[in-house]
Amino acid sequence: MEKRSLISITDLTKEEIVRIAELAADFERNPYQPLLEGRVIASLFFEPSTRTRLSFESAINRLGARVIGFSDTANTSVSKGETFHDTIQVISNYCDMIVMRHSLEGAPRYASEISKVPVVNAGDGANQHPSQTLLDIYSIKKTQGTLDGINIMMVGDLKYGRTVHSLLQALSHFNTKFTFVAPPELEMPEEYKLFLREKGLPYEEKREIDSSIREADIVYMTRVQKERFTDPMEYERMKNIYVLKNSMLEGTKENMRILHPLPRVGEIATDVDANPKAYYFNQTENGVYTRMAIISYLLGVKK
Ligand code: CP
Repeated sequence: MEKRSLISITDLTKEEIVRIAELAADFERNPYQPLLEGRVIASLFFEPSTRTRLSFESAINRLGARVIGFSDTANTSVSKGETFHDTIQVISNYCDMIVMRHSLEGAPRYASEISKVPVVNAGDGANQHPSQTLLDIYSIKKTQGTLDGINIMMVGDLKYGRTVHSLLQALSHFNTKFTFVAPPELEMPEEYKLFLREKGLPYEEKREIDSSIREADIVYMTRVQKERFTDPMEYERMKNIYVLKNSMLEGTKENMRILHPLPRVGEIATDVDANPKAYYFNQTENGVYTRMAIISYLLGVKK
């Protein structure tokens, strides 16, 4: 069987993105489908995670497979100096799939070239986070009833935010209108804006969360990521640049929902949590069904 990895959201066609959202809906209706009994999946987290690792591991368990792996390299032979190449080559002998997160951009792509088994990128540096994007797509479809013609406002760290990079590329299939809210230092990188221009898709850039929030169907908040800054003073200056408060949601559309990949630090005030437009905790649950869909689709047990 073909070895099918998921490294970038651009590895999937529009039809496959839609299909994975359909499969996620199927797993939500019936979350206990032991399609992978007897299989082993390695969960290799070279960088910290709560949601991605645990929802992947929950998905693997619900599919009837077993999990091996690590959430910290301190207890592995990486700490003795074993190379990334050798680590991946060895572990790919022990499992049917590798799910991996790494702080270095391109590490999962490199792993997929070494590994005998498919590799799923669970986030690499500021580059890509395709499984997050697929759960975001599922969340948008569930809350809006459609993926077509969505008006999305992306707010915060758009430079280092891998979730917004992947999501922009996925939504580019669906006639989306984008508004980017970021300071000059954390703007959406030129390569992604060029990507939209080449596809003829409109985008606006703003420095503040202004009245255009009232036009948005989705407000996608992101954290300013301390771990991506080399200068701690720069992080201190940026960290509270945008804080979404309940009072700012007055006049927004009924269907509008607030998404956030989480963790949040201070960019959404806790008074927003009780607002029916806050969807970020529901979004985390969608991660389990979507990751069940991704694994079973890539391993060919669901088509
Ligand atoms: N959304 C996300 O990637 O969260 P974690 O870093 O907790 O996995």
